[in-house]
Amino acid sequence: MKKLILMLCAFALGGTAIGAGAEINIVPKPLAVTPRQGEFRLTPQSGIAVGKDAELHRAAELFAEQVAPVLGGELKAGAQGAVTVSVDPSLGAEAYTLDVTPEGIAIRGGSAQGAFYGLQSLRQLVIDGKGTIPAVSIEDKPYFEYRGGMLDPCRHFWTVNEIKEYIDILAMHKMNRFHWHLTEDQGWRIEIKRYPELTRVGSIRKETLVGQYMHSNEYDKTPYGGYYTQKEIREIVKYAAERFVTVIPEIELPGHAVAALASYPWLGCKGEGYEVRTTWGISTEVYCPGKESTFEFLQNVLAEVIELFPSKYIHIGGDECPKESWKECPLCQKRIKDEGLKDEYELQSYTVHRIEKWLREHGREIIGWDEILEGGISKTATIMSWRGSQGGIAAAKAGNHVIMTPNTHCYLDYYQTNTPVYEPQGIGGFLPMSRVYQLDPYDQLNDEERSYILGVQANLWTEYIATFTHVKHMLLPRLAAVAEVGWAYDRKDFEDFRHRMTSLRKTYDAAGLNYATYFFDGLDEVKKEK
Ligand code: ACM
Ligand code: ZN
Repeated sequence: MKKLILMLCAFALGGTAIGAGAEINIVPKPLAVTPRQGEFRLTPQSGIAVGKDAELHRAAELFAEQVAPVLGGELKAGAQGAVTVSVDPSLGAEAYTLDVTPEGIAIRGGSAQGAFYGLQSLRQLVIDGKGTIPAVSIEDKPYFEYRGGMLDPCRHFWTVNEIKEYIDILAMHKMNRFHWHLTEDQGWRIEIKRYPELTRVGSIRKETLVGQYMHSNEYDKTPYGGYYTQKEIREIVKYAAERFVTVIPEIELPGHAVAALASYPWLGCKGEGYEVRTTWGISTEVYCPGKESTFEFLQNVLAEVIELFPSKYIHIGGDECPKESWKECPLCQKRIKDEGLKDEYELQSYTVHRIEKWLREHGREIIGWDEILEGGISKTATIMSWRGSQGGIAAAKAGNHVIMTPNTHCYLDYYQTNTPVYEPQGIGGFLPMSRVYQLDPYDQLNDEERSYILGVQANLWTEYIATFTHVKHMLLPRLAAVAEVGWAYDRKDFEDFRHRMTSLRKTYDAAGLNYATYFFDGLDEVKKEK
């Protein structure tokens, strides 16, 4: 009965109803949807007119591939067609309009990126209506500039094709940043030509914990590894750019560095005895900022990183760095004394500042996890708030830019229902769709402080996720809720979203994506704590 009431509510509230049943259901929610009279039937013969613009041509070809399963063939992109796609610079770069009449379809984007988003909206309508699209005028633009998804290929490794699929999924949700967490205690995943041991040694752990960290002593006795060559990285950066996704690499420092220390032991305070970590959690072994050679190494690594990634931002990590080894290290203590630092927290911020300065001299800006606030940060660092929103709120109040990715709403490795016994094994937590959707990046901020919030991001750590099918099970459909907060913060409405999601689900199906069904089955509602 409860489900029936929910379904009736969803029908009453959801989508933009037109005539007898045809609806405009798009996720994330467009800014303005005006129903018109009639409909247009798209067939493989309709054609897409894109003019000579190579980016538009590529966006149209991608769209043609994406709707081919429901049209029964591929539309051709060329000089003529019933679908026209063009650029109108009077619109914002990511904005678009989409007009469907009985005669044809017109998409205008503020740039090729805006046109791409118009085509992604059309993709959902075509799939929902099996080729018949209700006449409509849509005006749309994103609320937040930064809309990201993070993936961890260190705890478990993802192939080039899987990374491309992750990027496709982001682009489908009109997300524009892929945060690629490339270095960790459990594996170094990026080829650095100057330091071959990072991948020869650091990309392989000798075995992996089986079962839950804290409760298990069992290991699988099977070496596990993988890394991306520079050629593969260039290919992925290009693939992402073609989908208007910027790849932001994360090179973790000063903590989460055991794989680097195992490769080059002189990077650590102790200088010997490291091995790539085989279990999860946090290691007390971290880079030694007492040695100049550590900075030389990090700068040499970053010099190769910035050649590979055109992104303005480089993520330098900064989270979960225990200070024990620095307390016992004469060189770290000497650095604290020589630099007039108060304690090990200031030694961490000294390290981050030095790296930030080097990156700025090379035309880049840093993003760091919210721990980089401890010990003081520069005005130009962007904070990624993960330990809830408090770090982000403090940073915005201090005038630093912020990306909100609080574990309370954005950690998609957490369980999706409150009966996790029916879910694949996970890290813990409880993050149903409705709670993700409640993310408020502006919580506790006044108008001026709000201007420092760049946007939102979903994070997917993979300690307990060993297959890409499982990645998608965790990511979908919850990524859609993060995408809607990022794109449509000013117009979000959960019951309306729930209804529109039934259409996005068809787009997942047409793309052959697996996803979790708890939300669709009404199994993920937030229940009262016992
Ligand atoms: C993090 O989850 N340690 C950033
Ligand atoms: Zn040291």
